Amino acid sequence: EKQGFKHFMLKEIYEQPGVVRANLEAYFHNSSDNNQSPVNLGLSESIYADLEQIHIVACGTSWHAALVGKYLLEQLAEIPAQVHYASEYRYAPSPLTPNTLIIGVTQSGETADTLAALAMEKERRQGQEAKYQARLLGITNRPESSLGHMVTNIISTLAGIEIGVAATKTFIAQLMAFYALALDLAARRQTIPKETIEQIINGLRRIPQEIEETLASQERLTEHLAHEFADTQDFIFLGRGINFPIALEGALKLKEISYIHAEGYPAGEMKHGPIALLDAKVPVVAIAVPGSVYEKVISNAQEAKARDSRLIGVTPVKDGEAAEIFNDLLPVSSVDELLSPILTVVPLQLLAYHIAARRGLDVDQPRNLAKSVTVE
Ligand code: F6R
Repeated sequence: EKQGFKHFMLKEIYEQPGVVRANLEAYFHNSSDNNQSPVNLGLSESIYADLEQIHIVACGTSWHAALVGKYLLEQLAEIPAQVHYASEYRYAPSPLTPNTLIIGVTQSGETADTLAALAMEKERRQGQEAKYQARLLGITNRPESSLGHMVTNIISTLAGIEIGVAATKTFIAQLMAFYALALDLAARRQTIPKETIEQIINGLRRIPQEIEETLASQERLTEHLAHEFADTQDFIFLGRGINFPIALEGALKLKEISYIHAEGYPAGEMKHGPIALLDAKVPVVAIAVPGSVYEKVISNAQEAKARDSRLIGVTPVKDGEAAEIFNDLLPVSSVDELLSPILTVVPLQLLAYHIAARRGLDVDQPRNLAKSVTVE
């Protein structure tokens, strides 16, 4: 079943190019019709009508995908979006707002808190006037799940069953769902030119191959780093903008399967406290992709280096400046900043995997964790 891979997690990491292809084929088409969205998610029109804002509820890795989703929905479709931990939102919801889409993101479709947050929204909006009626959308890898029974509009993430407890391919599939939704809304609301949307979609079409290249170049590098860092006690992951959630995801992957303490921060927050943690024993992984915040991340990384931290850069291959600053590189294929999270997460998944494997841990079944959290 593992098809020659030592663990399901590694097999699932390698399945990611195929997962992106499946989502591209299912949801994106070449539209020659000027008035049509190039994305077809099969959602009912009531989802889109007079839409004013979006609230997203999720837990864990799905919450990280939601943070990338918020960035895309706001920057591409210009819709104010909030992301909430489902476990918090269910007991302290935002005040009722009109024409609001509530999105629940859960790969399993069984996470108790996410289901409860959606149920709470449904209930409190019942009997309200039309503009306050619940509009629910589920993003899940298991449309046959409890979520699927609860919510009529579903984006199915087409990753195939995931066995490793640590979410990998389902995360990338959730990102694809948010690219599709944000581009669909951008096309319908005409917030960005049609040509730009086509360019982004063309970029997405290149992603499967770029993940393949990244996987091929990373295998040895991450194994090598895993050897060096197997006994490290703390890691810091830094990113900004659309890659801040990827810093969180890199830290979560490392914590949950290798039991090494790790924190993800938006790089600009370091100087407000966490920088006090840094010394030669605390490596810093910085995600630095050319674009709106590249120089900022590099300068934040330099500040860490000045505290003797060893710097590991997740950065495009051909970047001379970056290569000089970082002690170690985990290069990704050169890519548009907007699409970069789909690539930058891959070396972080591999790094966590190889460190855990090197430590001899049960990668697919980490201690204290279950694949879906069906109790509160
Ligand atoms: C991390 C992980 C968990 C889940 C979280 C939500 O690798 O797998 O953090 O992401 O328990 O699960 P779902 O998406 O099934 O609601």
